[in-house]
Amino acid sequence: MKNKKRIEKAIGYIPQGSTVADIGCDHCYVLIKGVLENKIKKGIGIEVVPGPYQQGKSNIKENKLEEHLDIRLGSGLKPLHINEAEICVIGGMGGQLIKYILEEDLEKAQAFTRLILQPMGSERELRKFLIKNGWKIIEEDILISDRLYLYIVAERGEQNMGNDFLYDIGPVLTKKKCEGKDKYILDKIEKLNKIKIELYKANDQETAQKGLLKIENKIKLWSNELENK
Ligand SMILES: C[S@@+](CC[C@H](N)C(=O)[O-])C[C@H]1O[C@@H](n2cnc3c(N)ncnc32)[C@H](O)[C@@H]1O
Repeated sequence: MKNKKRIEKAIGYIPQGSTVADIGCDHCYVLIKGVLENKIKKGIGIEVVPGPYQQGKSNIKENKLEEHLDIRLGSGLKPLHINEAEICVIGGMGGQLIKYILEEDLEKAQAFTRLILQPMGSERELRKFLIKNGWKIIEEDILISDRLYLYIVAERGEQNMGNDFLYDIGPVLTKKKCEGKDKYILDKIEKLNKIKIELYKANDQETAQKGLLKIENKIKLWSNELENK
C-alpha cells in the first residue's frame, strides 16, 4: 500500500468506532485500512477529481467494503450533510487549501468532533484559522517518511496562544521532543535564509530592509526553539 506510514499515522488519531469523512480521499486507503482494522465504523470519502474518485471507488469494491464506505465526487465539505461524520481527515494538501475547505462550509466543519489535518505548508495560517474559529489544538506531531509530514489534531474548544510565534511552531509541537523536530526547524530556517538572499538582491532596498528585519526576527525565534528543545 502506497504511503503506508502516513495512512497509519492518520488512522492512529481516529477514535475506535468512528464515522469518518476523508476530504481529498484520493485512493481511499485511509478509510479502507481504517475499516479493515475495525477503527472506522462508517466512512465517506470526498474526491474532486474524477480519476482518483474512480480509483477510490474500485479500491472500495475490491475490498468488498461498499457497506461501510461511500465515496462521493465533489469539492470539500459540499457533498456532506451536517453531522454525517464525527471525524474529518484532510491530508496531503496545502494548509491554505485545508483552511479554505473548512472556511467555505464553516457550520459543517464546526460540527465535527475532531479534525485530523496534515498540511503541506502554511501551517501558521491554518493554526490561526483554527484558533479564531473555536478549535483547540490537542495534538501535533512530525512523521518522517520520504520527507517530513506535520500532523495537527484539533477539537472544539478555546486556546490561548499567548505568544504569536506559537502559530508558527505549534502549541503542542513546541513542548514536544520528537524525532524530526530539529530537521523541521532547520528546514524552516533554511527557507527563511533563502528569502533573505532574495531580499538582498531586491532593487527597492528601503522596503527590503523592513522585510529583512522581520525575517531575522523569525530566524531568531526558530533558532531559540532549536536550543530550547
Ligand atoms: C495529494 S492528494 C492526498 C491524498 C490523501 N488525502 C493523502 O493524504 O494521501 C490530494 C487529493 O485531494 C484532492 N482534492 C484537492 N482539492 C480538493 C477539494 N477541494 N475537494 C476534494 N478533494 C480535493 C485531490 O484531487 C487529490 O486527490
